[in-house]
Amino acid sequence: MANLESTKASLTTAEQLAREELIDMVPYQSARRLFSSANSTEEKIWLNANEAPGNGEYQLSAENLNRYPDFQPSNLLDAYSEYCGLAKEQLLATRGADEGIELIIRSFCKAYQDSILICPPTYGMYAISAENHGAGIVKVPLISADLTLDLAGLKQQVGKVKVVFLCSPGNPTGNLLPQAQIIEAIELFKDSAMVVVDEAYIEFSPEDSSAKLLNEFDNVIVLRTLSKAFALAGLRCGFTLANKDVITLLSKVIAPYPISAPVAELASNALTSDLNKMLEQVQSSNKLRGQLALWLTEQGWCKQVFASDANFVLFRCHSEQDKNQLFDLLVSNNILIRDQSKQLQLENCLRISIGSEQEIAKLQQLLSSY
Ligand SMILES: Cc1ncc(COP(=O)(O)O)c(C=O)c1O
Repeated sequence: MANLESTKASLTTAEQLAREELIDMVPYQSARRLFSSANSTEEKIWLNANEAPGNGEYQLSAENLNRYPDFQPSNLLDAYSEYCGLAKEQLLATRGADEGIELIIRSFCKAYQDSILICPPTYGMYAISAENHGAGIVKVPLISADLTLDLAGLKQQVGKVKVVFLCSPGNPTGNLLPQAQIIEAIELFKDSAMVVVDEAYIEFSPEDSSAKLLNEFDNVIVLRTLSKAFALAGLRCGFTLANKDVITLLSKVIAPYPISAPVAELASNALTSDLNKMLEQVQSSNKLRGQLALWLTEQGWCKQVFASDANFVLFRCHSEQDKNQLFDLLVSNNILIRDQSKQLQLENCLRISIGSEQEIAKLQQLLSSY
């Protein structure tokens, strides 16, 4: 008893009042939390967050900042509707795709009752957002041989989960999921769960989008972002694509003014007058990715290069020692990549985001000295 009292006494007021499960919860270790861009005098090469290299200057008119923006700025929705070929009623603009993930979980999962399903290795925010909300997490790992869906495993979870997160192209794996498998998963869960296809990287292989499935199925949601191919990660702008009833529901949960006026203005320009910048960016990134992947296969320390349909390459080293030494060699030379070795099935794996040609050349030059 005395022990319990002394533990309680050592807690701050906030810790005593907070939801207990948050006290020990580890937040998402984003690339910028692991390596902050502040407090550094040295120039860094950022290849750890799958951003695009710089895409030029953006001009803002920044008028009417004394007024709240529209709930969903019409210039932005018009631009995205034109870009993706869906009606405005099928779109919700959010603060990055990350906010879309959170809204979906909060809208479909009752806290401490319902669960989401993820297919690891996969993007970390699905689990973090679920944990934050008090939703359970069911895991059906990707099939290790080719990193595709374990449909038999998914079938066993029908009726037990409310939201299924698929990531295509996958992060950190890089590969697209076969369209036939995505359709099969949607059909499996058609009466019991929403199937979310996270397409944060779809611009790097646009013909494989699942957005067209929205017209066929009621239980599909597609997530998109301007953070990757559009080179606008700093803007925090993403889109949830779904049928009207889903968008109506999510609109009840989102903050009242999620998109600031400057964000709406810059994002609509990127989607219209500046669209070619993105297309050029994708072309050069895909070319560079092919060259880097080939080069990696030729290195003695590289055991495996994963096929990628996105703007990064995942590779496996022969040993943990190689993995650690390669990572440290790059960090000590101010080049930051991402260690993925703690993810299921990804022992000794590192992930390199495709930066500029000069950045990738510098990385190759350094790694050649290992
Ligand atoms: C698969 C995936 N989904 C969503 C996101 C989040 O994107 P945003 O910057 O739009 O929040 C990321 C970012 O790395 C990602 O890799």
